[in-house]
Amino acid sequence: MLRKRHGKSTAAVILSALCTVILLAATSDAPSAPTAGAGPRAVSTPYVVLGFNDLGMHCMNEDCSELLILPPFNNIHAQVVDRTHGSPEIVTQGITVEYVMPSNTRSSDKTNFWTYSQALLGANIPPDVGVTGSKLSGLMTRTPGGNDYSVIGVPVTPIDDAGRENPYPLATVTAKRNGVVMGTTQVVVPVSWEIGCNICHNTPGISTATDILRKHDVLHGTQLESSKPVLCAGCHADPALGTPGQPGVSNFSSAMHLSHAPRMEQAGLANECYACHPGVRTLCQRDVHLARGMHCNDCHVSMEAVGDPVRTPWIDEPKCGDCHQADHPTWEFEEPGKNFKESRGHRGIMCASCHGSPHAITPTITAADNVQAITAQGHAGRIDTCTVCHSQTPDDPFPHRLSDDD
Ligand code: HEC
Ligand code: HEC
Ligand code: HEC
Ligand code: HEC
Ligand code: HEC
Ligand code: HEC
Ligand code: HEC
Repeated sequence: MLRKRHGKSTAAVILSALCTVILLAATSDAPSAPTAGAGPRAVSTPYVVLGFNDLGMHCMNEDCSELLILPPFNNIHAQVVDRTHGSPEIVTQGITVEYVMPSNTRSSDKTNFWTYSQALLGANIPPDVGVTGSKLSGLMTRTPGGNDYSVIGVPVTPIDDAGRENPYPLATVTAKRNGVVMGTTQVVVPVSWEIGCNICHNTPGISTATDILRKHDVLHGTQLESSKPVLCAGCHADPALGTPGQPGVSNFSSAMHLSHAPRMEQAGLANECYACHPGVRTLCQRDVHLARGMHCNDCHVSMEAVGDPVRTPWIDEPKCGDCHQADHPTWEFEEPGKNFKESRGHRGIMCASCHGSPHAITPTITAADNVQAITAQGHAGRIDTCTVCHSQTPDDPFPHRLSDDD
């Protein structure tokens, strides 16, 4: 499958400059959990809440005692639409938007991240608080420059409070005005630590992490094994963590993908990306494209292409428009300079509010990812029922674009 090379995106709105916010790790108390309105939304309610996680799957390390690739860090977004008027209005003031993780109220007994956060990140982050100060429940705030509410860096793990593995835990998001529930939705907050380095880094007698650090030291003259725990992004620039890296050292994504590209046969996997990305068990890509037989490299091309040092990792990503523009030449897909997860279509509704998260474009093969659409409109798939937001089905055709005047 051919894909046009997309332009370099300037919108670095993704995971914000983590290092600076680490220092601000908040200690304020989260508001109490919503006690009402957590059930399915009745179709007659005047408001609708649609939410999404902005990464299709966040990977984090379970054991951070030797090395850290990525910490617990999920982002939830939600839009609130008032459907009581002639045309829908996106509500951006005078309300509060809360999130809770009913199945995952604790994380600090599930990963040792908090034991090593000081050594890894230079910040003493309180247990169950994420690197930006967010907790497992709390208030969402207006996204700067957007018309949605969001929370950045929720420290959720793939283990629920009963000890079961669940990479697709549901958050309940509730909008309130003057303390009265306006609407609620359920959003998958996907997270996994199925990072399969052990498929190849399995020297008997030492841990996978020690094997990795020792090989790094031998091949690159470093002393990582004696400096545990090691933050990889401390030397390799990583836009996901906002670290600048050291001059002359390759960015983290490029280092990983380019050096491993010729080694992948050893893993013996049908989908080589699942050697490190979660994973054969987790299926981070679980969307309508997978159902149509498409896999990672149909969109991301190859390990070498992902590792191309001219890319800005996390920002220069595939675009829906690369492939779908041909069928819909008059539509706008991603907004100029933005990725899917930040873009809005249909008069200000975010793409992901209707289509789901990247890699979980609905209808998905996982039940949890279809919950929101089924609750809102009675069937899985993109939100295509006008009366989810409009008080009546409009006579005019559906404008998929953000606006008329561009
Ligand atoms: C398909 C097999 C495979 C997988 C999966 C794999 N590695 Fe490797 N890795 C290798 C091989 C082979 C080497 C080279 C060993 C040597 O030359 O001694 C290596 C070397 C490394 C090195 C040394 C630096 C270098 O030059 O590449 C690091 C660091 C590393 N791997 C990290 C990781 C991490 C982190 C993961 C999981 C996210 C991972 N690897 C998964 C096969 C693999
Ligand atoms: C103290 C600084 C430092 C730290 C910390 C560090 N690296 Fe490196 N790494 C380097 C240097 C220097 C090189 C060699 C130059 C280059 O390839 O950029 C390198 C090379 C690599 C390579 C091979 C790149 C290639 O193209 O051959 C991989 C893979 C890698 N590092 C992965 C990791 C991982 C995984 C971690 C965390 C466990 C890590 N690094 C932590 C400094 C560091
Ligand atoms: C050897 C381990 C390994 C394999 C195999 C691997 N990745 Fe990755 N990938 C990583 C790591 C580690 C990160 C996190 C880098 C960071 O934090 O910046 C990552 C991050 C990414 C990112 C986000 C950063 C960016 O560059 O935009 C993309 C996209 C990605 N991988 C795509 C793929 C695809 C597609 C495949 C299969 C062709 C693949 N990866 C195979 C280890 C791997
Ligand atoms: C249908 C196309 C498509 C397929 C298939 C696909 N991706 Fe992606 N991927 C994207 C798009 C689009 C983005 C950018 C999303 C955004 O930033 O809004 C992305 C972004 C990513 C990122 C960066 C983090 C994020 O979620 O934004 C990683 C990592 C990644 N993909 C890995 C993979 C892996 C691994 C697979 C296979 C298991 C895969 N992708 C399959 C289209 C695809
Ligand atoms: C590499 C090309 C490519 C990229 C990138 C891509 N798609 Fe697709 N998409 C396809 C193909 C091919 C199909 C299957 C079409 C078919 O079966 O008729 C498809 C199917 C779909 C469908 C199902 C359509 C239906 O008939 O039900 C939706 C929805 C969709 N894509 C949305 C997206 C979104 C949203 C993005 C960006 C996050 C995206 N696609 C990125 C190629 C792509
Ligand atoms: C209000 C809900 C809504 C929003 C917001 C929305 N879409 Fe859609 N999207 C739809 C519907 C409904 C369709 C099917 C329309 C049709 O076929 O006429 C669709 C179709 C698509 C398709 C084509 C799949 C196919 O069948 O060929 C892609 C790709 C897509 N949208 C991407 C996006 C992107 C990117 C954005 C953000 C810029 C976005 N959408 C915003 C509802 C929405
Ligand atoms: C997820 C919420 C949502 C869904 C679903 C939705 N719309 Fe809208 N629609 C909006 C919003 C918000 C506006 C902007 C209203 C404004 O700016 O005054 C809008 C505006 C419009 C407009 C421009 C005229 C107007 O009323 O302002 C048309 C036409 C329209 N929608 C048609 C449709 C059709 C047809 C469907 C079903 C296929 C649909 N919409 C589904 C949210 C939605």
